[in-house]
Amino acid sequence: MTIGVGLIGTGYMGKCHALAWGSVHAVFGDGPQIRLAHLCEVTADLAAQRAAEFGFARSGADWRALIADDAVDIVSVTTPNQFHAEMAIAALEAGKHVWCEKPMATSLADAERMAAAARSSGHVAILGYNYIQNPMMRQLGALLAAGTIGTVNHVRVEMDEDFMADAGMAFGPKSDKSSGHGALDDFGVHPASLIQTLLGPIGSVMCKQSKPYATRPLAGGGARAVETSDIATVLFELASGASGVMALNRSAWGRKGRIALQIYGDKGSLVFDQERFNELQLYTVDGDPATRGFRTILAAPVHAPYNKFIPAAGHSLGFNDLKVIECHELLAKIAGQPARVIDFDAGLKIERTIDAMARSDAAGRWVSIE
Ligand SMILES: NC(=O)c1ccc[n+]([C@@H]2O[C@H](COP(=O)([O-])OP(=O)(O)OC[C@H]3O[C@@H](n4cnc5c(N)ncnc54)[C@H](O)[C@@H]3O)[C@@H](O)[C@H]2O)c1
Repeated sequence: MTIGVGLIGTGYMGKCHALAWGSVHAVFGDGPQIRLAHLCEVTADLAAQRAAEFGFARSGADWRALIADDAVDIVSVTTPNQFHAEMAIAALEAGKHVWCEKPMATSLADAERMAAAARSSGHVAILGYNYIQNPMMRQLGALLAAGTIGTVNHVRVEMDEDFMADAGMAFGPKSDKSSGHGALDDFGVHPASLIQTLLGPIGSVMCKQSKPYATRPLAGGGARAVETSDIATVLFELASGASGVMALNRSAWGRKGRIALQIYGDKGSLVFDQERFNELQLYTVDGDPATRGFRTILAAPVHAPYNKFIPAAGHSLGFNDLKVIECHELLAKIAGQPARVIDFDAGLKIERTIDAMARSDAAGRWVSIE
């Protein structure tokens, strides 16, 4: 059996999807053979160049032609956010499976249309929430399920990067409100995907968004008012009753890829940081109190599917490997097997959570998520 791949967009995430499609069969040794069928970019020249680099058979500048191509069974949508809804819905209506990057869409209404299209198509549609695929996140989930830290009563999660920390950075698309709210949907969706997967749904939120810089310089001189918020601070309550704090900042000098998760239970604690994503900290209330402390669990073949990449412990997976695992889960889902994915219905729950945060900020009060 083979499966034909169409790839729309070849930037940061497009290359990541191409690498995943190119190696998933070699890494896991199961599932269908992958055919790199059709690639699309904004110009035919760029598409041809990328197709040659990535090994795609056909290329062009018309994404609708890619979706209509009979050689394409599944479409990777790795274009900027504002294109996700239109491209994903068209692909589903053409009878293709879809692997779409996060966030799902730039409005809740679009996300609802995408989820409805996925349901009525009967095809598989998932979102690029790669951080849930980290083998250490699976281990963390297994420890929670086994009751190792008891009943969870508090969760703290921070997502910080510094790519917008420079006040002198020119006004760009991420400061324009057409890109969304800012840190909430650019960043908040990732911690929300982890919390939803590991600890269940968020029930209510209280959010405050803020702008570290009121204006940003324009390339041609002068300045323009910033329309999105690079910072958001959220109090939340899980449906389970546990309380939580989510802090998001894409102007946080020194932070490069931090998704720091602290989970506190009545018998212990779990701590993870994406900047050190091959390790996990576990504290349990047992043994001699004089020698208690956090212990570091280092990623190893015992933490499947680490073993599919490397037979030796402590040699570290990387970001692109998470996409290979996500790709493999997607293929399992298509084959009708159990799979760890955020499908469009689960993605819609994340969008509703983010929308509730934005409404809470506007209203200055707690908001429940239906
Ligand atoms: N999962 C993650 O961890 C993660 C990380 C970064 C970005 N993302 C998401 O991935 C998406 C893309 O982000 P990126 O950083 O790769 O952006 P990017 O700018 O690097 O790449 C986007 C590409 O899409 C192409 N493109 C734009 N319009 C197109 C069209 N109509 N037809 C064909 N190609 C088109 C652009 O030319 C560009 O090459 C965004 O939705 C972003 O939120 C996800």
